[in-house]
Amino acid sequence: KKLMIIDTDCGIDDAQAIMMALAAPNIHILGVTCVFGNTTVDNVCQNVLRVLSVCERNGIPVFRGSAGPLVGAGNSPTDHFGSDGLGDVIKEKDPCWEEKIQKEHAVSAMIRLVSENQNQVSLVALGPLTNLALAVRLDPHFPQKLREVYIMGGNMEGKGNVTLCAEFNFAMDPESAYIVLEEFLCPTYLASWEYACRNALTWEFLEELVNQDAPAARFMRMITSKCWAYSREAMMTKRDVHFGPGFVSYDSYAMAACIDRSVVTESIECPVRVELQGSIARGMLALDRTNQLKKSHSVFVLTKCDTAKFSELLKESLRQPCKK
Ligand code: BDR
Ligand code: CA
Repeated sequence: KKLMIIDTDCGIDDAQAIMMALAAPNIHILGVTCVFGNTTVDNVCQNVLRVLSVCERNGIPVFRGSAGPLVGAGNSPTDHFGSDGLGDVIKEKDPCWEEKIQKEHAVSAMIRLVSENQNQVSLVALGPLTNLALAVRLDPHFPQKLREVYIMGGNMEGKGNVTLCAEFNFAMDPESAYIVLEEFLCPTYLASWEYACRNALTWEFLEELVNQDAPAARFMRMITSKCWAYSREAMMTKRDVHFGPGFVSYDSYAMAACIDRSVVTESIECPVRVELQGSIARGMLALDRTNQLKKSHSVFVLTKCDTAKFSELLKESLRQPCKK
């Protein structure tokens, strides 16, 4: 089995991606590390606990990580998936959630788990990259001990979703995205904003997905009810660029690629860099296809997805709890 650590800012698409990993027979999750992003890091921790509980996988350790970016006062979390990150539909909160979070900090846990399982861990990063950047600062050998890293974030055509040129996860902490893409010299796979949008699914598929008869599907149906209705309408009226052209479960694209590489049918291998300056391009990912940066390390920027296989992974993930 592939050993996996999931780093997440658990919004609705993160929840879907986590469920995908929980359902995959070839994946063993060592832990879930939390970071701010879609909502506060405390809400993220609670959201992850809830997802694990719906899938009856409470034994997986959850770690609290960074509450804000490396530099600056920090951007305020979006309310893209509601203020709680899961569509603002869950009324009862677990009063004991803090006791269920591990005492160890997410960054320490990442370093420890990867050191204990050298060259075996796949790290899947679904939120701002703050925890990953801190890990390489605390342990400069951290990236070379990883098997690989999959990142949902950045762009490949200079299109942003929160700003003109920057995608949300990179825009929330550009310095961390920069550090990771300069210093993680392990095999790196990037599922950008445009990759997700280019491989969008249909609204009919979303209905089929969440109408399956299982607890995970019912949970997804509940948390997506408001959010995707808004998204669908926003897309029709072109009111909000943060949503893709159709049903786009952003983080699931990075997760699917890690679970089954054959889901990716085309990618570009080239060096990349995150822009840290500028008034409109801060946080943008630049692809260096003509080797102007003279970097020796390249990453795989995913471009085409087998949407039939991808859809099957999504469907399977909502038939939980499943026997492992
Ligand atoms: C990314 O931003 C977050 O809102 C999503 O969870 C995803 O990780 C998409 O730009
Ligand atoms: Ca996310």
